[in-house]
Amino acid sequence: MNNWVENYRDILPWSDYQTQVFDNLETGKHLLIHARAGSGKTTLLEGIVATLLNQNPHYNILLLAFNKHIATELKTRERIPRECEVRTSHSMGYKLLRKHLPLLRETNSLKIPKLANEAIEKISEAESDLPKLIFNAGFEAKQRRSEFLRNLRKLVDLARNNFANTDNELDAIREKFGFNKITQLERYWLYRCLRWILKKDEQLAKRGEIDYGDMLYLPHVWNIKPPKYHFILVDEVQDVNTAQIRLYKSLVDRGATFIGVGDKHQSVYGFTGSGIDSWTTLQFLIKCQKFQLPICYRCGKKILKEARKLVDIKAAPLAIQGEVKEIKSEQVNKLVKPGHLILSRLNAPLISRCLSLIIQGKRAKVRGKNVAKYLLEFIERFIESPTDFPMVWHIRMTDYCQGRIKFLKENGAELEARDFQDVYESLDFLYRAFVLEDCIYDLERFKAKILDLFDDNDKNCVILSTIHRAKGDEANTIYILDSGKLPYATKNNNDAQKEQETNLVYVAITRAKKTLYFVDGKPDI
Ligand SMILES: Nc1ncnc2c1ncn2[C@@H]1O[C@H](COP(=O)(O)OP(=O)(O)O)[C@@H](O)[C@H]1O
Ligand SMILES: [Mg+2]
Repeated sequence: MNNWVENYRDILPWSDYQTQVFDNLETGKHLLIHARAGSGKTTLLEGIVATLLNQNPHYNILLLAFNKHIATELKTRERIPRECEVRTSHSMGYKLLRKHLPLLRETNSLKIPKLANEAIEKISEAESDLPKLIFNAGFEAKQRRSEFLRNLRKLVDLARNNFANTDNELDAIREKFGFNKITQLERYWLYRCLRWILKKDEQLAKRGEIDYGDMLYLPHVWNIKPPKYHFILVDEVQDVNTAQIRLYKSLVDRGATFIGVGDKHQSVYGFTGSGIDSWTTLQFLIKCQKFQLPICYRCGKKILKEARKLVDIKAAPLAIQGEVKEIKSEQVNKLVKPGHLILSRLNAPLISRCLSLIIQGKRAKVRGKNVAKYLLEFIERFIESPTDFPMVWHIRMTDYCQGRIKFLKENGAELEARDFQDVYESLDFLYRAFVLEDCIYDLERFKAKILDLFDDNDKNCVILSTIHRAKGDEANTIYILDSGKLPYATKNNNDAQKEQETNLVYVAITRAKKTLYFVDGKPDI
């Protein structure tokens, strides 16, 4: 017997709520299942694949996971038969582009940053005196310029994710995603640059150069027809953006039945263009029959008591008690064992914790190879000549970051200031550990050491992850670092941002099956 059949039987009996969904699979209706954390959403999708293929082995089924890590996890758990195509929405978009663009090369994450710089160069050369008003001389002007660049890059990404193009649509995006106030003049040049970039973006794509954002944007712009599937199954629908929903719609228009599962309260990726609006857009574009799964099978009762401070969530009839403890940060390293999951809102605490565990001889890895890649790219920005590393590099990097953090704070961009502070602290920890302590003065070795701290799939070690990255995951024992600082919002955050921060606390708590440790205080919920 196939592994997946056995594994699928292992998780029986299905609850009545889950069975109800199975009964409606082949009615031709699209289904949307709104359910709580640990209520068996992903498990249900696995069961649906098995059931459908049992009925008809010729069904073409596409299962779309939220990110690459979850897609890999689903494939390796062996509950999904090989006949089912498992990928992320982005990789589906990439597949469509590959057919359309024979010259397609590796993705280039610097495509938009480069185009944004080019756009700025063009403005600076423009005959009109207007640009000079934005970029006049002095330190303040340097900050304004990088602020303009930052806005431009962010707006290009959001415009592509939301298919926004007109002035009104772009205004709405700036409003919704908490852009800082800008002058009419800046707005004029911002939109002009954005349109220039989007045009160039398409031209470069035709020559084979694409980035992550293009994968969902271009198939829509070029109206590329997707292949036919009988069913498309989507996990974590609360965190998809307009571009993803349009992809699902194009698959539905080709005859697929849509089945989506998600939990509105686990929406934590609003800054990429997803959120409550997307949930509405999805239901507007794809009319679905709705179902619920109210019972949590993952967490012990005491853990759910904490989660219940935020949402209504029921324990399974046979749920264990579980335990919730408050501990101090110094106790974590003594208690933690391979397979335990340490969560944090930010990256820097994970990096310093990982370093301290390794010093004590424990195997530990931070989730998120792409965070490592970002850090390596960031490091390179402050290297002008090979002898700059480590001293000149560290001074330059510190000066730049501190100037930037101050500027962002003064301009009310507190969340961004905190993200930037997180990058700075991460690099500073790494500098102290590898350069000052371990005496690594070679840039390439320094970068290799950083890369080695990160791993997305290693399970035989202590796993450290941001709460964002732990979506869909579970572990017997969970530690939430700096719990007392959660939810992580400030008075300047808008309601949507505050809600996301509260959602993150709910996500963090509900990763625990047996034991939940709040480290350094309890969340203010
Ligand atoms: N009907 C069920 N009975 C018992 N356990 C279940 C059932 N459905 C799911 N589970 C278990 O509950 C846990 C959470 O399931 P999962 O599908 O990851 O939840 P979600 O995707 O909703 O967060 C898993 O360990 C899974 O094996
Ligand atoms: Mg899940």
